[in-house]
Amino acid sequence: MCGIVGLACLPGRIVNPARAVRKSLEKLEYRGYDSVGIAVIFNGKIIIKKGRGKIHEVHSKFNFDGTPGNTVIGHTRWATHGAPSDANAHPHSDCLGTIAIVHNGIIKNFDELKKALIKKGHVFHSDTDTEVVSHLVEDFIRKGLKPYEAFKEAIKKVKGSYAIALITAYEPDKIFFAKKDSPLIIGLGDGFNFLASDIPAFLEYTRRIIVLRDNEIGYITPTNVVIENIVTEEKVNVQSRVRIVNWTPEMAAKAGYPHFMLKEIHEQPRALNETLLGLGPEINRAAELILKADRVFIAAAGTSYHAGLVFEYYLAKLPGIMSHAFISSEYSKYSKIADSNDLLVAISQSGETIDTLMALRLFKENGAKVISISNVIDSAIPRESDLTVYTRAGPEIGVAATKTFTTQVLVELVLALKIAELEGTLLPSEYNEKLSTLTKIPKVVEEVILKNEALALQLANTLSYKNNIYYLGRGLGVPIAKEGALKLKEIAYIHAEAYPAGESKHGPIALVEKDFPVLFVVLDDENKESIVGNIMEMKARNAYTIGLLTYGNDEIAEKLDFTFTLPRQEYFISPITYTPILQLIAYYTAVKRGYDPDKPRNLAKTVTVE
Ligand code: G6P
Repeated sequence: MCGIVGLACLPGRIVNPARAVRKSLEKLEYRGYDSVGIAVIFNGKIIIKKGRGKIHEVHSKFNFDGTPGNTVIGHTRWATHGAPSDANAHPHSDCLGTIAIVHNGIIKNFDELKKALIKKGHVFHSDTDTEVVSHLVEDFIRKGLKPYEAFKEAIKKVKGSYAIALITAYEPDKIFFAKKDSPLIIGLGDGFNFLASDIPAFLEYTRRIIVLRDNEIGYITPTNVVIENIVTEEKVNVQSRVRIVNWTPEMAAKAGYPHFMLKEIHEQPRALNETLLGLGPEINRAAELILKADRVFIAAAGTSYHAGLVFEYYLAKLPGIMSHAFISSEYSKYSKIADSNDLLVAISQSGETIDTLMALRLFKENGAKVISISNVIDSAIPRESDLTVYTRAGPEIGVAATKTFTTQVLVELVLALKIAELEGTLLPSEYNEKLSTLTKIPKVVEEVILKNEALALQLANTLSYKNNIYYLGRGLGVPIAKEGALKLKEIAYIHAEAYPAGESKHGPIALVEKDFPVLFVVLDDENKESIVGNIMEMKARNAYTIGLLTYGNDEIAEKLDFTFTLPRQEYFISPITYTPILQLIAYYTAVKRGYDPDKPRNLAKTVTVE
């Protein structure tokens, strides 16, 4: 987690480089926001401004924008080593104040390196793992190495994960960088170059990018980029790696919405439409790979794991394939199980979640094939996969995933239908008919949001005073319920638990008393009757019952205290059409409770540490 930025520019090419970096950091605040800082080289000296707090708080104290200089690095932090504090905020420096570094990741061997450096007389100013790198570089420079050579030697000594940007007063127009297991991207400009943890950081200035790969190291100047592999020492042909992204700066702006999350909920019809239109031959190839495999595993974290559960369900019910979805941080369980006839589907919107990446590597090492579903082109997980199917949700800035979930599910649905057609469970005509149903989804989602937003706001008034809530479903309703509960937990800080409705009597119902809220996801599927039974059980205990169901289910609606209704639909599209309502409930409950839904406490959007 943490976001880093670097900008090297020719004088006057970008009017206020420090301001540009501050604005870039604002775009990365979703990666962490407990402290922030910048370092600038001006007149051969390094100036550091940093402190604990959100960007606007620290900026109003230090005025980042009033810092002269054309080589700037910046950092927004999500604490791992060392509590959030002014001293632990990045950038960090060396003993002489001639070096400044920002880092995303964890230096695992920092303790041993730090002890050795202290023995040599180095004085540390923070509890962070990062600071060792600046002292290491200082040490090598003192031994007579040029800054880049010193940087390379320092990086060779560190173990762990890192995206690093480092400046030295000795070579003021260069920003050195190194990358392993944490994302780092170069944005190429005319007379300036950026480094950043994510593309939206520099989208206002350029769409020409290079996604750095593990073990790559080098430097940018305003007019030059040098990249090499630190292990093989091979130089990278920079031009061959340039990509143009089709994201626009508007996509990464709030566009009049009070929060990114609300904007992203409303963007779902467009995101779904673009994802559907963008699907190509990779769907056939992915379907063939799945059919060829002996066993199919699905690994993901957070919201993507819920999309994984949906996929597991789709595979079971559409082509009738048994698969196993697991939470990616539990990957070690499969070390003796995964083999070369298996296939892993790795689902990750960011393509950078470390646990999912580790699961992928374990399966690859055991010879399995890997398909990924991701929203970020060229990110680590797609790069290490045999095949990637991309969602086209556009940048998602709100920490809580919204449009990326529904687009992941859409991809999974098309894939499951394709598999069913290839293996003959669906006739080509049935397959085409189902696909044409999918083209209507964006419109349905638009209508669902339009009709239910005010109701979500109304329900939020009640929920905002509650401490607990159950989300219940059956079948495909279970992952939908899980995703709804996660949203409420993440941003409104209300304890929300989701489980298959049939489990109530095996424990959870013991907690239910008068006005305990229980939300039911009622689908038009084979489980409808059973779920009515579960509603009645909760009513009998005076629970406050809430339900999501389609039009025409009036008898069920009468049994509920609060109802959301959706157009009649094939049950298998419901994760895409029902979930936006649950997102809206969570959003308005968080706002009602006075929290910022875009920046939930203790959470970051991309988890790049184990
Ligand atoms: C974090 C985010 C979640 C996300 C999860 C997995 O926990 O806060 O919103 O679902 O990571 O991220 P991924 O990028 O792998 O989908």
